[in-house]
Amino acid sequence: MQDVLSLAHVPPRDGRIVILTGAGISQESGLETFRDPDGIWAKVRVEDVATPEAFARDPDAVHAFYNMRRARHRTAAVAPNPAHLALARLEREWPGDMLIVTQNVDSLHERAGSTRLIHMHGVHSKARCNGCGHVVPWDGDMSTADECAGCGAPGGLRPHVVWFGEMPLELDRIQAALSTCDLFISIGTSGNVYPAAGFVKLVRRLGAAHTVEINLEPSRGASQFEESHYGTASTTVPAYVAALLAAAA
Ligand code: APR
Repeated sequence: MQDVLSLAHVPPRDGRIVILTGAGISQESGLETFRDPDGIWAKVRVEDVATPEAFARDPDAVHAFYNMRRARHRTAAVAPNPAHLALARLEREWPGDMLIVTQNVDSLHERAGSTRLIHMHGVHSKARCNGCGHVVPWDGDMSTADECAGCGAPGGLRPHVVWFGEMPLELDRIQAALSTCDLFISIGTSGNVYPAAGFVKLVRRLGAAHTVEINLEPSRGASQFEESHYGTASTTVPAYVAALLAAAA
């Protein structure tokens, strides 16, 4: 039986919804988060695998890090969980506009059926040429031996992922969506990394949107949200979506 949450606010039926997701929404799919005690940054240093300087210094180590994460993502055990599926349902059934802005570089939202989606930190399932910027799908391992399909420059391929110190993708489109939305929902993110961590403040400054946090525990930005629901994403997100759709029916 689906739990249904009591909502503090229901947007208008033609309301525009923007949803920010982080690693917490994929945790129950078997993908590690970053800052939980057993998270990725407890095992490997950002400075060694997730900066342009790291790639210039030791590209093999950076490729190995993303090859491991790409391989993990290919295992049968890693699949969309009920939270991803609930957001895909919301996209299908919500009468207004909806956009997911994810910080995640996995493809679980797509595999769940979501289509209105921005990967602001890129995806590890694509490669980008350091020289010409050509981006192509990439599911296997990547190494410095691989060449760019666009310009043929040897050794210039990198994961199409945004590293620390780099500009996230599609910020103009994201800001436009944030400034016109009626409901902003943040799911499974600790609120540690900007600009995503600042979206709730932007929404409240720019528009009249209601703000909701759905997370395992209060994030760093918890006090900025008008409504919050805490619990695991695979139970809390479907319950929230069910309540939203019931209220809009
Ligand atoms: N259900 C809901 N929330 C969960 C669950 C779960 N099953 N498991 C963990 N969480 C929550 C944690 O409590 C935490 O608040 O998800 C959040 C994960 O936080 P982080 O590990 O910091 O991940 P995220 O916020 O997505 O990191 C943002 O930092 O390292 C960079 O580029 C990386 O995109 C990433 C960015």
